[in-house]
Amino acid sequence: MPITTVLHVDLLHLELHAIALAAAALAAGKLVAFPTETVYGLGANALDAAAVERIFAAKRRPHSDPLIVHIAQIEQVEAVASAVPPDALRLGAALWPGPLTLVLRRGPATAPNVSGGLNTVAVRVPSHPVAQALLRASGLPVAAPSANLFTRPSPTTAQHVLDDLDGRIDILLDGGPTTIGLESTVVDMTQDPSVLLRPGGVAVETLRALLPHLVVPPQALVRTEDEAAPGPGMLLKHYSPDTRLLVLAGSSAAALDVVAEVAGVLRSRGLRLGVLASAEEAPAFAALGAQVVSLGASGDLETAARLLFTHLRYLEARDVALILARPLPATGLGLAISDRLYRASEGQIIDADDLDAAAQAMAILNPAVI
Ligand code: TXA
Ligand code: MG
Repeated sequence: MPITTVLHVDLLHLELHAIALAAAALAAGKLVAFPTETVYGLGANALDAAAVERIFAAKRRPHSDPLIVHIAQIEQVEAVASAVPPDALRLGAALWPGPLTLVLRRGPATAPNVSGGLNTVAVRVPSHPVAQALLRASGLPVAAPSANLFTRPSPTTAQHVLDDLDGRIDILLDGGPTTIGLESTVVDMTQDPSVLLRPGGVAVETLRALLPHLVVPPQALVRTEDEAAPGPGMLLKHYSPDTRLLVLAGSSAAALDVVAEVAGVLRSRGLRLGVLASAEEAPAFAALGAQVVSLGASGDLETAARLLFTHLRYLEARDVALILARPLPATGLGLAISDRLYRASEGQIIDADDLDAAAQAMAILNPAVI
């Protein structure tokens, strides 16, 4: 196991020495975690199959789940992909650098294990200054999934990366918290019409304005494990915290009753309930003795997106027995937030307005826990 070297990269005075060290490490086949505007990525030279192999090992990620290749600018796309369709170039020109990933035909130079043997490759141009500096200094296309252990929430701070991967990677560039907080939107451009594979940092409404025929399959958002996944990485149990999480839908008044009851039962057993809610609802839940974290004002989906994964990790570290998450509107960035909450809950949504909602929530807890 390597010792992980943490290098701080101040956004105002980009530490070119640290960037040069990290770029040299990539060229030498090593693993470098770095911030992007969405989440931290775990990078390796995408042209070096042995280096890419180390990503799967470090993350304990199945080889069937392919990686995203990051490039510094759209002009490099032909170095990793072939037969790039005009619509892809148009989307890239409009939205790159940014939180958009396009699935294209894999080019011959790209290591086949980047895409788990598929003949396609996912490509993205990140906008984060540290990611940009690293990609430019190395001159390489960099394969980088999110820098977390498989099935853990994506990391939005350098500390999250260390919590999962300390000692498993060579270098971590610490550029502070990421700004968007959720992963990129993934669109499959090898199908006609193009298909949304994962909602993310670019809103579907924005994509639709550029690509009116984009297909948004319901199963891109809702999926159970026994169904065949439409794309790799679309399984439930992605982004799951270790603690059990349920989405608690329904009216505020009913949700208060459910939280009061569940918090009370847990407390009588010496346990705590965690709640993820908007700033409007949070104080009332907190008054009931739950460990509450606020996702910000309910209309502010950007703040909610930025805080979601951080809060999941925070609650998990607080040793709560169960997390109840209130849903947010599924428009704009809210679609990606809903998708991640749904996956973190492994598809378990309870309607607070059901008469036995509290009992349903308790039934999901492992009897060994309560
Ligand atoms: O924002 C992001 O996308 C971050 C940062 C680091 O760029 N990366 C990220 O990577 O979230 P990862 O590996 O955690 O998720 C990549 C997603 C997965 O759902 C994967 O299955 C999908 O992209 N993907 C990658 N290559 C694909 C391909 N060839 N065909 C279909 N889906 C693909
Ligand atoms: Mg990931």
